[in-house]
Amino acid sequence: MTEATLEEKQYIEKTDYVLEKNKFDSNALIAILQDVQHILGYIPKTTMKYIAERLDIPISRVYSVATFYKAFKLSPVGKHMIKVCLGTACHIKGGPLLMKALESELGVQPEEVTPDGKFSYEPVRCVGCCGLAPVIMIDENFHGKVKPADIKKIIKQYD
Ligand code: FES
Repeated sequence: MTEATLEEKQYIEKTDYVLEKNKFDSNALIAILQDVQHILGYIPKTTMKYIAERLDIPISRVYSVATFYKAFKLSPVGKHMIKVCLGTACHIKGGPLLMKALESELGVQPEEVTPDGKFSYEPVRCVGCCGLAPVIMIDENFHGKVKPADIKKIIKQYD
């Protein structure tokens, strides 16, 4: 058996905190996964296995919940999450061009993280402000009527 890395040890400590907070209740699995994601930024496979062991439930149950809800991230994400709306209104008004501009500006594909760890981006469906199409969201902030040429300036606002 290999020794856990420092990062893995920290993940275990943080996961233990979440499990204790939720009283090791397997019925609180969704809340546990939400808390873990909030703290770690995503839910690593090793953490899913650890949660299953500590709750004494099959890993398949943890995995099926984690993969069923799209809100759960199973791979690392950047410090800032960019969501590009590709709902109907945004699609018509140029959402796909914003995706291209982001790809070229960040040099990564959707769901990947930039080498400096700052950004990830992903396409999403209608974010609820179609009047501002095309829209991107960075963290909790909406940016509306965005043109591909605006992408660089918008991204620069985020450290
Ligand atoms: S389609 Fe993009 S906000 Fe509705």
